[in-house]
Amino acid sequence: MSFPHHRPRRLRTTPAMRRLSAEVSLDPQHLILPAFIREGLSEPNPIQSMPGVVQHTTDSLKRAAAEAAELGLGGIMLFGIPEHRDATGSAGLDPDGVLNRAIGDVRIEVGDELVVMGDVCLDEFTDHGHCGVLDAQGGVDNDATLELYGRMAVAQADAGAHMLGPSGMMDGQVGVIRRALDAAGHHDVSILAYAAKYASAFYGPFREAVDSQLTGDRRTYQMDGANRREAIREVELDLAEGADMVMVKPAMSYLDIIADVAAVSPVPVSAYQISGEYAMIEAAAANGWIDRRGAVLESVLGIRRAGADTVLTYWAAEIAGWLRER
Ligand code: PBG
Repeated sequence: MSFPHHRPRRLRTTPAMRRLSAEVSLDPQHLILPAFIREGLSEPNPIQSMPGVVQHTTDSLKRAAAEAAELGLGGIMLFGIPEHRDATGSAGLDPDGVLNRAIGDVRIEVGDELVVMGDVCLDEFTDHGHCGVLDAQGGVDNDATLELYGRMAVAQADAGAHMLGPSGMMDGQVGVIRRALDAAGHHDVSILAYAAKYASAFYGPFREAVDSQLTGDRRTYQMDGANRREAIREVELDLAEGADMVMVKPAMSYLDIIADVAAVSPVPVSAYQISGEYAMIEAAAANGWIDRRGAVLESVLGIRRAGADTVLTYWAAEIAGWLRER
């Protein structure tokens, strides 16, 4: 039997019926707010290519974190922009460095009300802008970088981070960080592994957000956009090394990857709606070409529907505000 007995439109008749029939939902607890803090700022500094997003001062970051907690967001992911950079990214390991101080300040501000996360990667701290240290030929030295990631992770855990997000795509990074944390007594600090992170043109605005020094690209360590099965390999390795959650990044051009990972992952799956995804929707909306709120909500709902349990999005606080209105 089919039509006229079956009429899928019956479940679409009223807003209440559509709510009842919804397969996935958006809730503040699913959302993680990425936030930038820049050393030496006296006022928050708007990021041109990400309208509505700023480089924070300590005070404005603490306010944003308190607001995120009040809105019931799942977490906040912190990125630091230091005043001085060097070849090995030493400001990222310094307990007094901008990111580690910010982690401490935010943790004091929000306590355990919000999961406080730190980006474990050297690109914001190196003068060449790569995610690791360079070898004599100018390539990124995987194993020499791992040692620094381990120390950086311990510094962030000492500062008060609940969860660490290694985003550099070095082989073995999750295992080295896990061992370093355990050796320092941080057994309960968890790892959100950027497991399937693709080399993407959509990171463009982030480079402005962190005043990146990068020339060239990250194609020797981030994944190739042509590859689907390889994402599962990356996820399996990270799980074997001790990842507590796994992430796919970017989101919108990689929804198939999110679905694949969600189908096999025994741990929660996260997806990062990155700077270029944010910028595209903001730019189209600013031109009056799309409805801003509708497009934002649809984009994040699509990422959830693909299988992401949690979504990192620069709209996290705004979306939570909209959900509260409703
Ligand atoms: C690396 C890192 C990047 C992003 C998050 N962590 C940049 C990169 O890999 O080039 C990008 C996030 C975004 O574009 O919103 N520390």
